[in-house]
Amino acid sequence: MFGLRWSCSASPSSRVGLRLSSSSYFAPYHVPLARTRRACCWSRCPNPEGVIRSPDLVELEYADLNLKDFYGAGCVGHVRIRQHVNPLSSSFATPVKVPEWDQVFSDPSLPLMVDIGCGSGRFLIWLAKHFPECRNYLGLEIRHKLVQRSQFWVNELGLKNIYFMFANATVSFEQLVPTYPGPLTFVSILCPDPHFKKRHHKRRVVQKTLVDSIAKNLSLGGQVFLQSDVLDVAVDMRDQFDVHTDVLKHIDFLDPQFTCDEQGWLSKNPMGIRTEREIHAELEGAKIYRRMYQKT
Ligand SMILES: C[S@@+](CC[C@H](N)C(=O)[O-])C[C@H]1O[C@@H](n2cnc3c(N)ncnc32)[C@H](O)[C@@H]1O
Repeated sequence: MFGLRWSCSASPSSRVGLRLSSSSYFAPYHVPLARTRRACCWSRCPNPEGVIRSPDLVELEYADLNLKDFYGAGCVGHVRIRQHVNPLSSSFATPVKVPEWDQVFSDPSLPLMVDIGCGSGRFLIWLAKHFPECRNYLGLEIRHKLVQRSQFWVNELGLKNIYFMFANATVSFEQLVPTYPGPLTFVSILCPDPHFKKRHHKRRVVQKTLVDSIAKNLSLGGQVFLQSDVLDVAVDMRDQFDVHTDVLKHIDFLDPQFTCDEQGWLSKNPMGIRTEREIHAELEGAKIYRRMYQKT
């Protein structure tokens, strides 16, 4: 059981010293105010207290990684990126080249966790550092600059069980993951870009082909963890994974330690660490909608 095996239930922020510098990536989404009742969560309005900013909280929560503010030849750790990329553009249409797995992981027979749309990569690096023996970690991210910086941090930390790839996960997952020598035991899709407008929903990373591929390639007992702070996005992901109820059972049916609220969202984050988007959203008072499935 992946979720419950995280023994680090105490928040890392309770164990680490404060190191406040705003080198982390987080960019609030631009949403037309009328489109959401939680509009302030997506605007640039400052925290009402004017004290705690989510980049500072991210630094605090991930302080034990001690990630450099600078990477590469004078590149600043703070990466400026566009709000959303369009994954349907022709430049993202070609599946990525499969890496030599034994070149990127020291033991490619280990179980694999894939984080789709891994953003800055801090979340996955944290897992790879705290749970090094049990699995390899693969981050798929469509923004080159973020991948470049994540991989720089991995090299700096000397981790041999984690690799970041530039990839449009929607088109590359099926080509990539079945070639991995070990079993696929965990897939996470955490706070994917919402692409709010209905006509842009086809840009969302969770599409039928990806869901089918995850359901097919996941090993028996393997798990999928989904979350979003946008209800519409969470419902969309849930509906698409619920199609596979013949093989993917929601975790609360299988393990009584996992409980859900009345709408079927997990009561707690089972991962032991929050993602950057999650930290930001919770600071703004948003609820995080979570689902976890297990292949049976
Ligand atoms: C809102 S961020 C969330 C990042 C991180 N998972 C978190 O919770 O903090 C969504 C990320 O997914 C990436 N992304 C969007 N579409 C993608 C795709 N088709 N393939 C891979 N990554 C994608 C974006 O570039 C962005 O970094």
